[in-house]
Amino acid sequence: MSEQKSDRDTLISADENRAMFDRIAKNYDAANRAISMGMDRLWRRETIALLRPFRGGRYLDIGTGTGDLAFEILDQSANVLIDGIDPSGQMLEIARGKAAGRGVGDAVSFFPADALDLPMESETYDGIVSGFCFRNIECRQKALGEMLRVLKPGGMLVILEATRPENPLVRLGYNLYTPLVPIIGRILGGGSAYKYLVDSIGDFPQPGTVTDMFSAAGFSSVQFKPLTFGTVCIFSGKK
Ligand SMILES: C[S@@+](CC[C@H](N)C(=O)[O-])C[C@H]1O[C@@H](n2cnc3c(N)ncnc32)[C@H](O)[C@@H]1O
Repeated sequence: MSEQKSDRDTLISADENRAMFDRIAKNYDAANRAISMGMDRLWRRETIALLRPFRGGRYLDIGTGTGDLAFEILDQSANVLIDGIDPSGQMLEIARGKAAGRGVGDAVSFFPADALDLPMESETYDGIVSGFCFRNIECRQKALGEMLRVLKPGGMLVILEATRPENPLVRLGYNLYTPLVPIIGRILGGGSAYKYLVDSIGDFPQPGTVTDMFSAAGFSSVQFKPLTFGTVCIFSGKK
């Protein structure tokens, strides 16, 4: 897969991601809600439903940001342990604040790490989720290899990502809406980050290419599920 930084300028390092998300952390949740028109809650629910977390399971949320996917796992299953990792200290601070507000105790740990070099032993997790992060990772194929490594046999990987709709009519509406996204982002203090968001969705491979990458990494039962007219997709695979 020719996915090196030299080919695509929207593939940026964990350090560059950290700097960008540190800058926008404070207003990230508000911007997310506004730009997705509140749909992100539904997308997260669907994502974790596909993960099918079970009591006593151990889960990893990669690029956890402000922690909403990790909290959704807690909402859908009791007695789980979750690690949420992210290079952005500011995003993690907000996630920790939310965890304290929810009183989740030791069920979730948030700490800094890079998807390309996971600091965990092999076969640690029953499942891995990642929301709106895979698109940002500098070498996605390598990240998939790391995810496979830390999953237990039979474990599920579920990735939620923003995609370009394929239906021409929907694409028309999408093309009219996306120029507004950087404006909304700017109003909510996001600077150029939301222009990057639109550009990186434009550069992101079509769903069939993403599922090929899952298979190439060694995942089985690979599938994708488009939601909201294909403006987001949930990709899943089993170890
Ligand atoms: C758009 S936010 C998504 C946050 C959260 N998952 C959500 O659903 O709202 C993307 C997150 O991925 C993180 N990220 C970017 N590159 C990463 C990497 N290489 N490893 C781990 N996390 C990364 C960013 O710091 C950022 O917090």
